[in-house]
Amino acid sequence: MVKVTLDNVQLLGKLDSTPLFTNSKTTPADVLTKGALEFVVLLHRTFNKTRLQLLDNRQKVQKKIDSGEYKLGYLPETKFIRDDPTWTGPPLSPGLIDRSTEITGPPVRNMLVNALNSDVKTYMTDFEDSASPTWENMIYGQVNLYDAIRDQIDFDTPKKSYKLNKRFIESPTVIVRPRGWHLVEAHVLVDGEPISASMFDFGIYFYHNARKLIELGKGPYFYLPKMEHHLEAKLWNDIFNVAQDYLGIQRGTIRATVLIETLPAAYQMEEIIYQLRTHSSGLNCGRWDYIFSTIKRLRNLPGHVLPNRDQVTMTSPFMNAYVERLINICHSRQVHAMGGMAAQIPIKDDAKKNEAAMLKVRKDKERELSKGHDGSWVAHPALAAICNDVFNNMGTANQIYWIPNYEVSASDLLNTNITGGIVTTDGIRVNLDIGLQYMEAWLRGSGCVPINYLMEDAATAEVSRCQLYQWVHHKVKLNDSGEIVTPDLTSKILKEQVEALIAKSKTPENNKYIELAAKYFEPEIRGEHFSEFLTTLLYDEIVTPLDKPVDLSTLKP
Ligand SMILES: *[C@@H]1O[C@H](CO)[C@@H](O)[C@H](O)[C@H]1NC(C)=O
Ligand SMILES: *[C@@H]1O[C@H](CO)[C@@H](O)[C@H](O)[C@H]1NC(C)=O
Ligand SMILES: *[C@@H]1O[C@H](CO)[C@@H](O)[C@H](O)[C@H]1NC(C)=O
Repeated sequence: MVKVTLDNVQLLGKLDSTPLFTNSKTTPADVLTKGALEFVVLLHRTFNKTRLQLLDNRQKVQKKIDSGEYKLGYLPETKFIRDDPTWTGPPLSPGLIDRSTEITGPPVRNMLVNALNSDVKTYMTDFEDSASPTWENMIYGQVNLYDAIRDQIDFDTPKKSYKLNKRFIESPTVIVRPRGWHLVEAHVLVDGEPISASMFDFGIYFYHNARKLIELGKGPYFYLPKMEHHLEAKLWNDIFNVAQDYLGIQRGTIRATVLIETLPAAYQMEEIIYQLRTHSSGLNCGRWDYIFSTIKRLRNLPGHVLPNRDQVTMTSPFMNAYVERLINICHSRQVHAMGGMAAQIPIKDDAKKNEAAMLKVRKDKERELSKGHDGSWVAHPALAAICNDVFNNMGTANQIYWIPNYEVSASDLLNTNITGGIVTTDGIRVNLDIGLQYMEAWLRGSGCVPINYLMEDAATAEVSRCQLYQWVHHKVKLNDSGEIVTPDLTSKILKEQVEALIAKSKTPENNKYIELAAKYFEPEIRGEHFSEFLTTLLYDEIVTPLDKPVDLSTLKP
């Protein structure tokens, strides 16, 4: 066994030793044990350098795209992977054969119970974009999963009792999404630097639960976000091998589904499956983030300006090409091709509106089924019935056996030409409104936010500010007024939106977060500054380090 030292490791996150919930015995001190910390420190010391290099590569690709001379395409150096028809993914793992409806949500205790109680096959438990990564959210997320897996998640609040209605093993299969490579966990410092959030989230969960999950007949399963290159998938694969070896678990036990939610990754789908090989459980279409990435990476090129966000849909040429390519490749390699998110939530006070929203969900799921997806996402338990109903038409647990053979060329993935696409003043306003509302909630510690009857995650705010950057940068003409979008125009509408949100705010104590959100948003929407991610831009605002690090000799073994 490798020896890990905790010299030069500082824990700055509070380790409560009293449970947050009645009838829960587990505390952060039970998940951040000495053994678990040593494990994540080992991962970080071994792999942090590669992680940083890969993040740096993303910027190199951006510079090449910006130069206008380089066009995104398939990599020549991996042609042998694409051209070799003989390799496939591994046999499907228990609990991951039928994934017709997957529910998603952050590991907040009540939401976790509700998700496990819903009528779905699988559950993407999210430490990433639908969670605001406060220390408390992240560490209690681990506590909640630890308890769920051990059938001790039931708890009471003054208002309500939450109870699993089946044993964990009979409940939907849990698939954990750790934070992406770009994020750090600032409450743990290794050799003076914050630890990789991906390795922290993955490591703590894996260390405590992998064996238990295998004993129960399932396994440690993951969703991997935001990758932009197949070598980023290789890094995960290397981590999986070290992690399995460390705990004495057979290599190939882990399964990971990769979200194809960046434009560069769409050119490397086969390579990504190949890198994960025995650990792959397919790919997923992460639609909002994919739109975000497409705008982000193409933002400085004329000819790729996207119209108002409601005109960018799954049937837009570049989106349709991405879906078709993903299904072709997944099924050729014998792994799942998962669909995208229905963000709708029930509209309780308006039956007509509700019916229209639910019909929209059904149509979207029907499109996914007929395209060839094996299952799809919902953000709310009430939507599960619709998705189940549609995907039951497969008549089988999945349709991996069906290889549709769509024709998709490299340039189809760049076809952002949307017929009738226009940009309007209202389009600017909608973007600012959604962006501000989301960021306000995120800064308060909530990352899963209902806005206009849609359950939004960080991608929504990212799409907002990228669109505004792009419209200002390319001096787009507004269809309603004929005006050109300028920095002063977006600033003016931002100010109006802040005032409007404050005027209708029912919680004046939160107004400071609206103003803080606007402060960060402004340089971005004026096109003066472009951050890679809002979540990294805002992160320092939610970091709450202890003045004095935790004495590591007091950690539980
Ligand atoms: C992480 O990588 C950077 C860059 O290679 C390096 O300077 C730093 O020392 C590394 N940190 C740890 C904890 O290994
Ligand atoms: C965009 O699509 C329209 C309608 O199909 C077509 O007339 C136009 O030439 C296309 N523009 C580009 C830049 O491809
Ligand atoms: C608005 O869009 C319509 C439809 O594309 C177009 O015919 C019209 O000329 C546009 N108006 C302005 C002011 O750009």
